Amino acid sequence: MTLEDQHATMSQRVPLSTTVNGRPVSVAVPPRLTLADLLRDELRLTGTHLGCEHGVCGACTVLVDGRSVRSCLLFAVQVEGRDVVTIEGLGDNPTTGRLKCAMSRHHGLQCGFCTPGMLVTATELIEGQDPQQPLDQECVRETMSGNICRCTGYQGIVRAVLEAAAESSAARSGREEDR
Ligand code: FES
Ligand code: FES
Repeated sequence: MTLEDQHATMSQRVPLSTTVNGRPVSVAVPPRLTLADLLRDELRLTGTHLGCEHGVCGACTVLVDGRSVRSCLLFAVQVEGRDVVTIEGLGDNPTTGRLKCAMSRHHGLQCGFCTPGMLVTATELIEGQDPQQPLDQECVRETMSGNICRCTGYQGIVRAVLEAAAESSAARSGREEDR
C-alpha cells in the first residue's frame, strides 16, 4: 500500500452504532480511532483519562458489556452494537457512590488523575463479588494492580475498596431480608 493509499484509508470514516451510558450513539469514525479518543474527543466524556496510551496504567478503564476494558487499546469500531459505560455513566451507581465516599474518608486520591479508572475497576470488582465470600485485601490488591496511581500510594485506595465492598454487601443483605 502506498503512503497516499494509507492516508486515504486513515481519512475514511465508517459508521458506528453503539450505546454509551444508556444513550444510543450513531457516528462516523476513522477506522483506527480508539475508543478512548471517541469518548473524549467526539463525545466529550473527558472523565475517561489517558495516561500511558498502551494498556499499562488503567486510567482509561471503562466498562463494555459490563466488563472493564482499556479504552486506549480498543478501536471505537470494536464497540459496534455493544454497551459502553464510562465514569460519567456511573454517576448514580450506588456502589460507585460508596467507593467515592470511602476514597474520600481514606485519602485514596490526591491529584485524582487515576481515580476514574480506579472507580470503574473497583465498581466491577465489588458488583461481581461472591456474596458468600467477602473480598479480602489480597484480591483487592491483585485486581487494582492494573490501575496505577502516581501520587497517593495504595494503602488508602485498598482500604476504601474493602470498606465500600463491606457496605455494598451489607446493603445487599438488607435488601434480601426486606423481601
Ligand atoms: Fe489506557 Fe494507560 S491510557 S491503560
Ligand atoms: Fe494522582 Fe492517583 S491520585 S495519580
